[in-house]
Amino acid sequence: MSHNITVLGLESSCDDTAAAVVRRTNSESAEVLSSVVWGQEGLHAAFGGVVPEIAARAHAERLDLCVEQALEQAGLTLGEVDAIAVTAGPGLIGGVISGVMCAKGLSIGSGKPLVGVNHLAGHALTPRMTDGVEYPYLMLLVSGGHCQFLGVHGPDQFTRMGGTIDDAPGEAFDKSAKLLGLGYPGGPLIEEEAKNGDPKRFRFPRPLLDRPDLDMSFSGLKTALRRARDTLVAEKGGLTVQDRADLCASFQQAVADTLAEKTRRACIAFGKPVETPVLAVAGGVAANSLIRSALQKVAAQEGFRFLAPPLKYCTDNGAMIAWAGLERFAGGESDDLTLSARPRWPLDKAATPMLGSGKKGAKA
Ligand code: KG4
Ligand code: ZN
Repeated sequence: MSHNITVLGLESSCDDTAAAVVRRTNSESAEVLSSVVWGQEGLHAAFGGVVPEIAARAHAERLDLCVEQALEQAGLTLGEVDAIAVTAGPGLIGGVISGVMCAKGLSIGSGKPLVGVNHLAGHALTPRMTDGVEYPYLMLLVSGGHCQFLGVHGPDQFTRMGGTIDDAPGEAFDKSAKLLGLGYPGGPLIEEEAKNGDPKRFRFPRPLLDRPDLDMSFSGLKTALRRARDTLVAEKGGLTVQDRADLCASFQQAVADTLAEKTRRACIAFGKPVETPVLAVAGGVAANSLIRSALQKVAAQEGFRFLAPPLKYCTDNGAMIAWAGLERFAGGESDDLTLSARPRWPLDKAATPMLGSGKKGAKA
């Protein structure tokens, strides 16, 4: 007989320190009892990107406070949760270790089971927590660190259908913003600049659209933007406000067009296991209105229901980790104290490694 399950989740794989408490009730629906996210943007802004050592230290200093707040806001003690879930990878290893060590300490102290969670599974399973979506569904994960199409068939059954072979789109937004002297994170700043720009002025590449598969590449786009910037600077001695807006608008359009076309192909490849399958998105880049509406349009054209969970659950958060841990735990799974932090941890064990597959295996 089913019963309520309540899980505490910890997340520290990139630049957000987060903890949350999530409950699944008898009716199988999810309730986020609390979700605390302490963003580190301010610590990394001066560097134009996440500095791993600074991130790890900040996680170590903040995690216990986030856990304390999450429990307090949920109105629970540690003794009242059923399990402790933690991101065990993939991610910046110092931060992942901070989270795993904190969770192990909590597990030893409370006697509660420990459940290691793959960060990407956290993102991929979010639509089940927010909207009760049934398996199987199609997921596009587009963040600062990841970009992939996933067929989601079960809590631990993922098919990686394609993904970036170099930079993630968010990374391209961040690097391009840096090239234009904008701040960090670059995505929202480029989107803001683009509002006054002409998306047709610069014809940036739509990479890999000539290939039939679902792989993508975004690093060349950033290089194209740098070349256009350098040409303007050489011609005129600098960039006007309009030049910058046009560069942003043209860049954003190229990312949107590329993602939209690859998403169309992903929908076709996923097929119609049910009459109206779900196309869900997750990751910070899904906050971009142009990209979001381009994906929405493609979904409608291909007969898919488009689903974008609320932004606070699309970007890194503890609730998605608690939920993914809950799904594992409900299936009878947990880890012991040998759980280790993994910098690389592909979701789909059968897929060909994509990103920098080196001695340690595939990154994602
Ligand atoms: O999912 P997220 O919060 O963190 C991870 O990378 O895991 O995503 C952050 C990324 C950053 O690269 C940021 O520039 C990008 O999402 N982003 C955006 C927008 N808002 C955030 N990119 C484009 N347009 C936006 N409005
Ligand atoms: Zn993430």
